[in-house]
Amino acid sequence: MEIKNRVVMTAANLAYASEKGLVTEKIVDFYRERARGGTGLLVAGAIGVDPERVNTAGTMQLSSDECIPGMRELTGAVHEEDGKIFAQLWHPGAYALPSQFGGACPVAPSSYYCSFSRCKTEALSIAEIQSVIQYFADASGRAKTAGFDGLEIMASAGYLISQFLSPLTNMRNDSYGGSLSGRMTFLREIIQAVRAEAGPDLPVMVRLSGNDFMAGGNNNDDCIRIAQECELYGADALDITGGWHESRIPQLTEDVPQGAFAYLAARVKRNVSIPVVACNRMNEAIGEQLLEEGSADYIGFCRQLIADPEYTRKIRENTESIKRCTACNRGCLDRIFKGKPLECVLRHAPDISGHDISCNAETEHGSSARGKNIIVCGGSTSGVRTAIRLAEEGTINSDVLRFLFLYRAESPDFLYDLLTHNGRKITIVEPGAKLCADSGGSARVALLNKLKLFPVDICLESELVASDEGTVTIKKQDGSVVQIKADDIVGWHQ
Ligand SMILES: Cc1cc2nc3c(=O)[nH]c(=O)nc-3n(C[C@H](O)[C@H](O)[C@H](O)COP(=O)(O)O)c2cc1C
Ligand code: SF4
Repeated sequence: MEIKNRVVMTAANLAYASEKGLVTEKIVDFYRERARGGTGLLVAGAIGVDPERVNTAGTMQLSSDECIPGMRELTGAVHEEDGKIFAQLWHPGAYALPSQFGGACPVAPSSYYCSFSRCKTEALSIAEIQSVIQYFADASGRAKTAGFDGLEIMASAGYLISQFLSPLTNMRNDSYGGSLSGRMTFLREIIQAVRAEAGPDLPVMVRLSGNDFMAGGNNNDDCIRIAQECELYGADALDITGGWHESRIPQLTEDVPQGAFAYLAARVKRNVSIPVVACNRMNEAIGEQLLEEGSADYIGFCRQLIADPEYTRKIRENTESIKRCTACNRGCLDRIFKGKPLECVLRHAPDISGHDISCNAETEHGSSARGKNIIVCGGSTSGVRTAIRLAEEGTINSDVLRFLFLYRAESPDFLYDLLTHNGRKITIVEPGAKLCADSGGSARVALLNKLKLFPVDICLESELVASDEGTVTIKKQDGSVVQIKADDIVGWHQ
């Protein structure tokens, strides 16, 4: 199969499908527009393979023949625009939301509490595992009939296949568990079943987490072993993404540096002989460099192509006119996780305001905080960002970090300390019961996780009532009063 360029749109659940998971006009238009915008390969999905245990809010399905006609329209639209389209085959496993399929228990390799779906999972029996493998095979046959140019097996981000791969969620001691080789059995059998159904000519790509970024889970070396097995068992290409949804390492927020996870794809590329897609937080300059140095064969973009369907054409013709995705996640990821259809804030929803939240560091004395003890008044998103900025001020920059690390001038622990401690003691005083109450979704979670990295004290349900020379008085909702040292105050006007 020939793809006209090296730009891949990685999979995105748009939550545009009908209640039964059928393709709608909105889905056809979405992919047609991206193909017309010049993108060589579009990965459509995720597409559920299990007729029962799949999140239903707008997710596409290939779990019955009824799904084929809509899919045929979709592939036809992309082909008319000279694009190629793969179907991403997916099973959520423990990540399925019981509220979306009649309250039934999500299935997983083992029984455990899943923090994503917030419920206990049910361990699949061997017979059930085999029927799930058959679902993947059946969906592959339907995708082929519907005219897809290839298939992608979704084995990353913490969904069912990655649950089998990980020792954290696979506690089985039969042939589907145990060592990494045992935990790979499920993926291996899926690749073989999909390959048998797809035939030798339909490319099969596998999407893997380059590192699960879960303590005790699979790391980047494990990923290389898994990638090599995928190649051995018949995968034609690999799409290397970041970690699990549950990971504490940010995956998609704006503070993930662009190209941050490219090293994962590059390591895999050095250890396999099939093509590799590098993705996540890419831009055209980093993509170009990765291709030139041979660190990847294709560059994957998702949100940039959601924000600007003509991105690929514009890379060639006019980069200034590109509408740049800001990684806010508000119109895309946060909406689909609430079961709402995707609406990029740059394209569809003028009513989603506060897209760019400015960082406020106005203090009693002017624009920059002074001294060791600083009080930030208000724990809104802006207040939390301000606290983080004040905590980061004066810590070492990336060049210094690189230099010290490269020459092993200091221990990793000491370097970590230099990154997170600047000698300041910052306290956020918030009248409400929680921080960042003005924002929601992934941005809030990421910001609060980042806040935890710094020595910042938090006083909730508290108000600043007085400030004296070097001290402030804080009154709590229960009537108690505390006094703490304060050299400067941000965002408080008496
Ligand atoms: C709204 C949305 C839905 C997504 N759905 C899927 C999905 O169904 N399957 C998948 O493998 N990745 C999914 N992703 C992840 C993307 O493919 C991509 O890896 C991620 O957005 C990071 O790349 P980017 O920085 O280019 O957006 C989704 C991302 C977004 C924003
Ligand atoms: S909603 Fe925000 S993150 Fe999502 S595609 Fe649009 S600009 Fe990018």
